[in-house]
Amino acid sequence: MTANPDVAPTLLDVSGLQKFFPIRQGLFRRTVGYVRAVDDVSFTVTRGETLALVGESGCGKTTTARAILRAVEPTGGTVKFLSQNGEVIDVTNLPRKALQPLRKEMQLIFQDPWSSLNPRMTLLDLVGEPLLVHGVSSASERQARVEALLKRVGLRPEYMGRYPHAFSGGQRQRIGIARALALRPSLVVADEPVSALDVSVQAQILNLLLELQEEFALTYLFVSHDLAVVKHLSDRVAVMYAGKIVEMGIAAKVFAAPQHPYTEALLSAVPEPNPEWKSRRIVLEGDVPDPASLPAGCAFHPRCRHVIERCRSEAPVLQSGADGHLVRCHRASELSLSGVMPPSD
Ligand SMILES: Nc1ncnc2c1ncn2[C@@H]1O[C@H](COP(=O)(O)OP(=O)(O)OP(=O)(O)O)[C@@H](O)[C@H]1O
Ligand code: SF4
Ligand SMILES: [Mg+2]
Repeated sequence: MTANPDVAPTLLDVSGLQKFFPIRQGLFRRTVGYVRAVDDVSFTVTRGETLALVGESGCGKTTTARAILRAVEPTGGTVKFLSQNGEVIDVTNLPRKALQPLRKEMQLIFQDPWSSLNPRMTLLDLVGEPLLVHGVSSASERQARVEALLKRVGLRPEYMGRYPHAFSGGQRQRIGIARALALRPSLVVADEPVSALDVSVQAQILNLLLELQEEFALTYLFVSHDLAVVKHLSDRVAVMYAGKIVEMGIAAKVFAAPQHPYTEALLSAVPEPNPEWKSRRIVLEGDVPDPASLPAGCAFHPRCRHVIERCRSEAPVLQSGADGHLVRCHRASELSLSGVMPPSD
């Protein structure tokens, strides 16, 4: 939360990213169509900043995150990453073998710490494994580094011999964080890291992530369906709908004065301590559209309370406004939408 975009370099540059999953049918499994899970997504993340990627379930957040890390192969687009040796690496065109050293620098924290941790490995093995894979062969050095990491994420080093089932959800997420940080990454992609946790535990983990960001100069791509979670954590916010970014801008501005009706609806569900800032809850009717058969025109039009005839046939393009604010809506300049924070200026 400290990056100054005027001086900090771009760490991650995602351009025109696409991921289409083929839909196969029949005896010969012929491809009959595509799920356009991520369709032309572009953004940059500056070193030290937190970009939140938000939107309802199924809008393409996880697929975007996974395509960036090549956990799924992108269908199109490019991902460039500034590596720790100062080289800009074209991640999308890297041979698979060459990805391994880069994995040290780009780490993933998962939503469900339980499923991402091997139940038969002790804490020492779990947190020490990435160190071993990346060449820390001395057992005593691994143990010392694991001990320091555990302390740093708020776990007692004497628990090192225990298995994950002995820990609570919040503690398991701390283990996941220690594992992700073991190799000193510069980019951490956190996919719904607190969604499975109780609200009180969520705050502790979010605070820990903020502290660690300062201490280890981390850059976060923070994926969440919950805008309340990203409110105090993000520098910028990108809102996704049906595989595309529909609004992106400085977090305080997006929260105070959203320009896309979808963002306004999502924000109306965020709890706000000051009732004077709170707009009326906008209930979104219907579900996120099926990315295999999107509505014509603006993909949001069947659910939009500001829809006009043009929206049903013509797809809006992403338009750029002040402070690099981007919005994909025909009516962005004429609508006056409600946010959840007082405007910052
Ligand atoms: N392996 C796959 N094969 C086919 N379709 C997929 C695959 N993975 C994801 N999808 C589809 O792509 C779309 C986007 O999914 P994704 O998991 O990226 O969404 P999300 O925004 O992360 O949702 P959630 O909040 O539920 O995690 C969904 O329609 C999903 O069904
Ligand atoms: S383009 Fe039309 S339907 Fe889409 S968000 Fe804007 S007003 Fe709503
Ligand atoms: Mg997801």
